[in-house]
Amino acid sequence: MTKKIKAPIKPDTRLVTSGRDPQANHGFVNPPVYHASTLLYPTAEDQVAHRARYNYGRRGTPTSEALEDALRELDGETCAGVALLPSGLAAIAAALIAVARSGDHVLVPDSVYRPTRNFCNGVFKRLGVETTYYDPVIGADIAKSFRANTRAVFVEAPGSQSFEMQDIPAIAKVAHDRKAIVMMDNTWATPLYFRAFDRGVDMQIQAGTKYIGGHSDIMFGCVSANAATLPALKDTVYSMGLCVGPDDMYLALRGLRTLGVRLARHYQSGLRVARWLEQRPEVLRVLHPALETDTGHDIWKRDFTGASGLFSIVLKPASEP
Ligand SMILES: Cc1ncc(COP(=O)(O)O)c(C=O)c1O
Repeated sequence: MTKKIKAPIKPDTRLVTSGRDPQANHGFVNPPVYHASTLLYPTAEDQVAHRARYNYGRRGTPTSEALEDALRELDGETCAGVALLPSGLAAIAAALIAVARSGDHVLVPDSVYRPTRNFCNGVFKRLGVETTYYDPVIGADIAKSFRANTRAVFVEAPGSQSFEMQDIPAIAKVAHDRKAIVMMDNTWATPLYFRAFDRGVDMQIQAGTKYIGGHSDIMFGCVSANAATLPALKDTVYSMGLCVGPDDMYLALRGLRTLGVRLARHYQSGLRVARWLEQRPEVLRVLHPALETDTGHDIWKRDFTGASGLFSIVLKPASEP
């Protein structure tokens, strides 16, 4: 008998086929949207037999399972599981709370998404967690900022608004040598253009409100975690009662189906607009890591396989009209 060669599943195919089980749903392609809180069983024995899988809407439904499965498959084998959150900021907060305890210290890049900074300066400070903001382009020199109680390093590349690229493998190596956890806001690139777990990230956060949703009509966030960090993440999310509405979960899953083609167009169109802006007399600098002139271009080229549509510009000083 000839041995069948199994071709690896390409990400675009995976996006279309993951998180669904038509045979479990009368052949319908997509999972149903369960609007659910309480479950009813005909007998107490039946409840005992089935409660391990589903026991309350907040703890999971076939809709949430489908979305978690699809996201986990996209992240690859190192990802042990995914937590679904009602927004990107909730995902950031849940990941941080899952990891750090009172008396801990965390390192956060100076270019971080502003509400992440607000969370660290507000809630985290009140909970007794201290934050140091580091230069996002510091690379392996981040070692100097470590303390005995440094529990986690947060990374985000490119930086929000200022678009610095970070040497995430170098930072992760330093962090892991010191037993610290690396968590990343990977909203910009998504797992399609940056394989966070392959580059040393332990927990990956996405604001699904953006590219996963893709149509400005949902609020959603998620955290993917490796085996070491998943239990604390899941426990935190359950303990805080965090969950996502069924329609938003369904739209997130539907958004995933077209993520590949949408991102490819974002990449192409964004770069075209960036190159046009580079020629404009009003523009001092275009901050887009896929441009050859960008200071973070080498890192982008080494670690990323594409760019999404978000970038920024620095305007030349202009006199008041
Ligand atoms: C990089 C990044 N992370 C997180 C968030 C927060 O996402 P949400 O608006 O879903 O809370 C945003 C939103 O703009 C973002 O740009």
